[in-house]
Amino acid sequence: MAGKVKVGIVGCGVISGIYLKNLPAFDLVEVVACADLLLERAQARAAEFGDPSGGRVMPKACRPEELFADPAVEIVVNLTIPRAHADVALAAVDAGKSVYTEKPLTVERAQGQDLLSRAKDKGVLVGGAPDTFLGGGIQTCRKLIDDGAIGEPIAATAFMANHGHEHWHPDPAFYYQPGGGPMFDMGPYYLTALVSLIGPIKRIAGSARATFPERTISSQPKAGEKIRVETPTHVAGTIDFRNGAIGTVITSFDVWAHTLPRIEIYGTEGSLAVPDPNTFRGPVRIRQGRESEWREVEVAHGWIENSRGLGVADMAHALRSGRPMRASGALAYHVLDAMHAFLDSSREGRYIELESTCERPAPLPVGLSATRLDD
Ligand SMILES: NC(=O)c1ccc[n+]([C@@H]2O[C@H](COP(=O)([O-])OP(=O)(O)OC[C@H]3O[C@@H](n4cnc5c(N)ncnc54)[C@H](O)[C@@H]3O)[C@@H](O)[C@H]2O)c1
Repeated sequence: MAGKVKVGIVGCGVISGIYLKNLPAFDLVEVVACADLLLERAQARAAEFGDPSGGRVMPKACRPEELFADPAVEIVVNLTIPRAHADVALAAVDAGKSVYTEKPLTVERAQGQDLLSRAKDKGVLVGGAPDTFLGGGIQTCRKLIDDGAIGEPIAATAFMANHGHEHWHPDPAFYYQPGGGPMFDMGPYYLTALVSLIGPIKRIAGSARATFPERTISSQPKAGEKIRVETPTHVAGTIDFRNGAIGTVITSFDVWAHTLPRIEIYGTEGSLAVPDPNTFRGPVRIRQGRESEWREVEVAHGWIENSRGLGVADMAHALRSGRPMRASGALAYHVLDAMHAFLDSSREGRYIELESTCERPAPLPVGLSATRLDD
């Protein structure tokens, strides 16, 4: 196949807005269809983002089955809620399409394994969010580490703590079901960044609890409704990376306030303060040897705005050229395996050795055009 890669979006809720805004800007991507269980949501998004006057064709709004059956669609971008990720991704793969899924890849490990193996049989690609690690902030960190600016990484911290999403998301129940919670919701940003910066994980020890058995929605339109909490909401633990580095992690929806950093990487020659991995931007700060102050390092790469969809564009280039994709299914599965390991370790009272591994995704070169990812 040649020419633009045609993309269909399944799941037209909150996050679909930024994908629909960003994807058409990439040279190699064309959004041709969007679908939702609720057809009116797909219709609304299609109308919002179609712009015939600007030369952009309005995507077809349809039901998911119609999108899977459309021979024009090459990549399905799966923006449904976590518990639907596996079914939607498998339906796409079974229809012979590559699929890029929002995080987490699936809820259960077995679903993720099934997805990867069926995609391999079908000869299609699987990719998974987040793609924030491809943003200018974390790619600048990656270059500093690869260039030896902090020596050999020996340790890292990763902290994400807040009081949950029921005060802003219009339909926040999924955040408190298996596949949600702070680890499965926010852990992917932090763990994907760590794997990209340090390398794959060997084993994990974790402790987990659910502090509040019930949450009350305060956002509209469901204000006042109760949510039963069915997954841990405070998860702490340690990571032993395969290269020997040791990570300390907290993810929490139970904390009102804190002064913790997001991610820091400690090396034999210095320390690196990594920006919020739920963004694409800086600041990147470093302290080398006995320097007495942190120094801000200029962000050397592009994509510092909210560039969700970058991983899909990278996948489109991988499809056309045959080069490996960066936000790959193997990476997303390794992160899923790690997230489960925190909870398994807490339940079973032992270290969990990870059965999965992955390659560190290739860094993005400095100076790429804003709309292409050829390398
Ligand atoms: N909201 C955010 O800020 C945010 C940020 C980053 C990532 N995400 C991720 O994006 C995904 C979606 O989150 P959201 O906030 O957009 O949720 P949402 O509830 O706003 O939207 C999900 C949409 O998927 C549809 N859907 C559910 N099951 C479906 C199925 N089987 N087939 C077709 N459509 C189906 C729903 O009708 C809904 O319109 C989640 O995986 C979430 O983790 C969300």
